[in-house]
Parts: sequence; C-alpha cells; structure tokens
Amino acid sequence: MQDPVTLTVKNGIATVLIDNPPVNALGHQVRVGLRDAAARIGDDTQIRAAVIMGRSRFSAGADIREFGSDIAGPSHSEVFNQIEGLMKPVVAAIDVTALGGGAELAMACHYRIATPTARIGFPEVKLGILPGAGGTQRLPRLIGAEAALDMMLSGKPITAAKALELGLVDKLSGDADLLAQALRLATEMMNFDSPLPRSSTRDARIKEDRADKELFARIRSRNARAMRHLLAPEAIIRCVEAAVTLPFEEGVRVEKAESGRLMASDQAKALSHVFFAMRQTAKIPDVPAHTPVKPINSVGVIGAGTMGGGIAMNFANVGIPVTMVEVKAEALDRGLSVIIRNYENTAAKGKLTQEQVDRRLSAITGTLAMDDLAHCDLIIEAVFESMEIKEQVFSQLDRIAKPGAVLASNTSFLDIDHIAGFTKRPDDVLGLHFFSPANVMPLLEVVRGEQTSNTVLATAMKLSRQIGKTPVLARVCDGFIANRLMLPYLVNAQEMLVEGTSMEEIDAAMTDYGFAMGPISLLDLVGLDVVTFPGEIKLTEELVKQERRGQKLNGGFYDYDDRRRATPSPAALAVIDDVRQRRGIRGDRRRQPEEIVTGLLYPVINEGAQTLDEGIALRSGDIDVTAILGYNWPDFTGGPMCWADQHGLARIVDGLKKMGHTPAPLLTRLAREGGSFSG
Ligand code: CAA
Repeated sequence: MQDPVTLTVKNGIATVLIDNPPVNALGHQVRVGLRDAAARIGDDTQIRAAVIMGRSRFSAGADIREFGSDIAGPSHSEVFNQIEGLMKPVVAAIDVTALGGGAELAMACHYRIATPTARIGFPEVKLGILPGAGGTQRLPRLIGAEAALDMMLSGKPITAAKALELGLVDKLSGDADLLAQALRLATEMMNFDSPLPRSSTRDARIKEDRADKELFARIRSRNARAMRHLLAPEAIIRCVEAAVTLPFEEGVRVEKAESGRLMASDQAKALSHVFFAMRQTAKIPDVPAHTPVKPINSVGVIGAGTMGGGIAMNFANVGIPVTMVEVKAEALDRGLSVIIRNYENTAAKGKLTQEQVDRRLSAITGTLAMDDLAHCDLIIEAVFESMEIKEQVFSQLDRIAKPGAVLASNTSFLDIDHIAGFTKRPDDVLGLHFFSPANVMPLLEVVRGEQTSNTVLATAMKLSRQIGKTPVLARVCDGFIANRLMLPYLVNAQEMLVEGTSMEEIDAAMTDYGFAMGPISLLDLVGLDVVTFPGEIKLTEELVKQERRGQKLNGGFYDYDDRRRATPSPAALAVIDDVRQRRGIRGDRRRQPEEIVTGLLYPVINEGAQTLDEGIALRSGDIDVTAILGYNWPDFTGGPMCWADQHGLARIVDGLKKMGHTPAPLLTRLAREGGSFSG
C-alpha cells in the first residue's frame, strides 16, 4: 500500500498530501503520517511553511470503522495540536469536502483556503457523537457560538462562500488551481512577520458570546424538538458553553469527557451501524460490482394515480423522459394536474425555479395508448393490486415492450414470479416497490424474482441511486420486507385498543420511544381505506364503512380540527366497543408504556428474524434501513434488528413466549448462543 501521507518540499514550502481513498478518512496510518509530517516541518530548517491538502478531496474526517474499539495513537487531537503548535505557517487547502475531523484538521491549520465548490461541515451529530478533537472549542472561537452550534447541531455542511462569510475560511481559490493559490498564500505568510493565528487562542468572538446571557437558553429552546431523544446535541451545547466560559485547555477537558460518554453510548453505536448499513444495501453478494447495467434513458409508467404520478416525478426530476399511461382521459388529466400542483407547491416554497418546474413537466408525457411505451427502456406498472389486472397489463407489455426493456411492478405484496410468468421474458421482470408519497420517500424495495437477471438487478440498484433513493433487495413474499415487518406492529396496536389500552397511551408510548407518530395516528395518516388486516381485527374496515378514512376524509380513529389537532373520536370508540362485545373481550387491560413498546416491537423483531432466516432480506442491516426509511423508524435506535441486539435477544425470546408468540428459530438460536443479528 502506498503511503497515505506524503511530504514534498519545493521553494521552502512543504506540501503534505493525504491520499487515503476513497474519502481520505483520518485512520491510524493517516494520523501517523500527519504526525511525522508535522515533526519534519518543525525540525527541517529548509521548510519555512506548509500546505496540507488531500487527493480528490480534503478529508471526510475520522475513520468511522475505528469507532467501537480502542483507537490507536496518535489521537486526532494530538496530531491537530501538534500542527497548530508549529511555529511555521500551515495552510489547509480545502477541496470538495472537509467534514468532521477533516474540518477540525483544517481549523488546526493557521490559514484556510477553499475552492468555491468545497463544503465544510460537522456531521458528527448524525453519528451520535461530537467533534471531539478540539472542534467544539475551536469552531466557536472562529465563527462565534451561535453559528458554530448551527453547524454542529444540524450536521449540515455549508458552502465555501458561507464559510468565508462566517470566517471559517480565509480565502476562496476562485477558478485558479487550489494548490498554486495555497502555495502563494503560504509564501506570503512565511514572509509576514507577525504571530501565527491559532484558532485555540482567538477570543474576540467568544467574548461577544459571553455577553449574550440568553444565548444557550435560546439555542436549547430553538432545537428542543429536534434534540428530543438524542444525547449528542445537549453534549455539543455543553461543550460550546465550556468554550465560551472556560480557557481552551479546560474546554477541551469538558469535550473529552462528553465525547467519551457519547462514543460509548448505544445511540452512537446504532447510528454508525446505520451509516454503514445504508451503504451496504446496494451490494448483492452474487451480483458482482462490475455487472453490466442497461442504459435507462426513457421510462414508462402505467397508472396515473397517486403512486404512478409520484413514480413519474422521480424520473422527471433527474431529466429522464417519462411516458405515463392511463385508461381514461379524466384519470390521466387528474394525474397530470396533481403532478403540476405538486411541482408548483414546491416552487412556491422556493425550492424550485419556474424554469426547473417547466423542464420537469416537459419530461412527462401523458397518453391513453399502451403502444406509446414501445420505446421505453424501463416500464413500471402502478395499477390496482389485483392479479387479474396485472395479468392483463403484463401480457400486453410482453407484446409491446422492446426486447431487453426492464419490466417492473410496483406491487406492495403480490407475487413477482407469478407476474413474471405472464411474460415470455421473466428475466427482465422485477418488483420496484416505491413508498408513498413516491416522489418523497427515500426507500425503494427492489424485489428479485426467481429468474430476474443480474443485469436487471444491477440496473435497478444503480437507477435507484440516480433518483436519490436507497435500494433494499427483497425476495418474493407477501409484503416483502417493509410491509411484512410492520404488519404485526399495526395489528397488535389495534389489538391493544380492543383489549383496553387507549389510543393516546399507545401513540404516546411509541412517540416516547422515538417514532414521529404512534401507530394509531399512522393508520389515520396512511388512510384506513388503503390498509387491510388479517384475522379478527376489523376496526379499520368498520370505520371505513362509516366513511371515516383517516386524516384525509372525516377522520379515523381520531377526529381532527382544522389545525390537525387530534382527539379520540367517539365514533371510533363506539366501533372499538362494538368489536369488544362481539368478541367477548372485557376491554379493561391497561398497559404501562414499557409494556406497550415491547408488546408492539417484539413481534416486529420476530418477523424480522423470520424474514432474514427465509432469505427474504439479505442482511439484518437491510431490515433496519427498510424500517428507518420506509416507516420512519427512529434511526438513533439503529432500526429494529440493531435495537434488538442492544436490548437483548434472550429478553425478547422470553417476552414473546409470555405474550403467547412462538419465537422464530433464528431468534431462538441467536439468543441461546449469545449471538446477534448483526453478526
Ligand atoms: N470513515 C470510514 N469510511 C467512510 C467514511 C468515514 N468517515 N466516509 C465514507 N466512508 C466510506 C463509505 O462507507 C463507503 O465505503 P464502501 O464503498 O465500502 O461502501 C465509501 O467510503 C464511499 O462513501 P459514500 O458511498 O458515502 O460516498 P459519497 O461520495 O456518496 O459521499 C461523503 C462521500 C460525503 C464523504 C460521505 O461518505 C460521508 O458523509 N461520510 C461521512 C463523513 C462523516 O460523518 N465524518 C465525520 C466522522 S466523525 C469525526 O470525524 C469525529 C472526530 O471528531 C474526529
């Protein structure tokens, strides 16, 4: 392996290059290389200044793979302090991204120059940790506490122009070569006879912050909602309070203590699991990375309903022309006008220009003729969920579609192999299951039929990224991964209602766990007419008979006022009572929040274990990503399977037995062996 850090000297200036693909993470070898480079810069009398830069990008920060184990020295902060302490000017030349530890490294340099397209950010909060190498102490000293907290609490990177405005960088490189400009700056500075500006000793900004007595109360109240459940944001605020009130070294001690606590937390472990799980899902062991893909330059969508329209928008958004087919002119017109309204609403919020709206709309063509799909590289069917209708559509598609076209069904539960059997080209058929609203939800379940070819799968995985979705591979079964997983959750929530736990108690227990809304509110939001449940639970059916379809029509379990505030609906309470009477249930079983959480989540884990054991999902991380992106499962728990690992599998097995459920064989085995889903 070549050296991840090299140092070359020309005209008295050392250029230190970090070259650690793919993202120049600051792993052990890089830290050793930077430490040695700093020592050489300090010792070598030929060197009068230095530039630190990265190949292809500055740096994406700490190597997240090192988390969870003892991190070998030198630590990030030792290296950064050593660089800041040099008596010769050091310039950070920032290209593409300086994130997390990468941005901390840049702040430890005496000067920062960035390309106009570079982005600088502190995404640690998204990993449940904080910038723990002096970052919480240096950043407020450079840009003030409020701007520093905005960056560190949101985790969002800022543009180079914004960084310049805030004082996080000193200069933009313009169109000229970054290294040449950085060398010029280093030359200027080595001939400039004044003390080197060190971020750790600046205090003008924090003196101003000290005078603002309401600052931290204001920030806590502004971020209260986003901070709920999370450990890292409060820890970050405490560190910045320390930066404002204490000398640098003491602030660093506070940072170290907070950082250590976060690093050891379940939340940090869960969030770094999610980081890697999100990047794993597109990798299919028996579909090699170099598998050729089919070019997708035109897409057909069958059905202009809510799903069809949303699906079409995904492709129009990235400039791929879409032909959308409907049977009747009114349905097509309605579908097209919903799309127009959607884009106009986005433009009204300032998120799209009129020109972008026009370009996207012009990419979508409506038609009543299936034959117009003959030229499409990919055709996605999004019609009514009935096998008879799918048969009509796919046998027709088999005649119309050009050879090699990819044929996909958006079905959320029907058998893809059966559907593929309606064509003479089952290897070109797969499921592409979008989640509603299809233009917004970030998950795409890619359903692999028995005969789906590797090329078609690789094409779907690539295309998914192109339209900004995270793909998860599923095998054929009723409900695939997402809906199969969450069915027990929604069924058991209703069973609890019938047994006597109130809807507010059920919803509150789950929002306290971390969901944005509880299961009963979720049913109302999704629409009671679009869900069906097996067994004796007929609450939603009964409510629909009364024309109560959820938030969209007449309310559902809850009534909603014009500000969408919910109160339990007397009509729904009467339906629940009626079901109780018919089933001979007393309805006096109240539950404590903990019992609601375990009663709803243990069966989900059990279903997840079964899904994994049957090979429907490839990895437990895929199930976690599916739940997080498809059902807004709180990411800081790591998703259901990661949460189960942390919660204790033996505990879950016992709990399931007490609830009268049979634990899945895989779950039982792992619990017995002391294993975990994540291996
Ligand atoms: N550590 C280890 N691996 C990393 C990494 C990191 N910081 N960042 C990215 N990778 C890996 C990914 O896992 C992926 O690996 P595979 O190819 O094996 O799947 C590969 O690099 C490419 O990553 P992406 O697919 O995400 O590439 P992208 O071009 O879409 O995005 C990126 C690039 C914007 C840098 C993105 O990877 C990213 O946001 N990375 C994380 C940045 C981050 O959170 N940094 C803070 C770390 S914590 C810290 O620095 C704390 C401290 O105080 C020192």
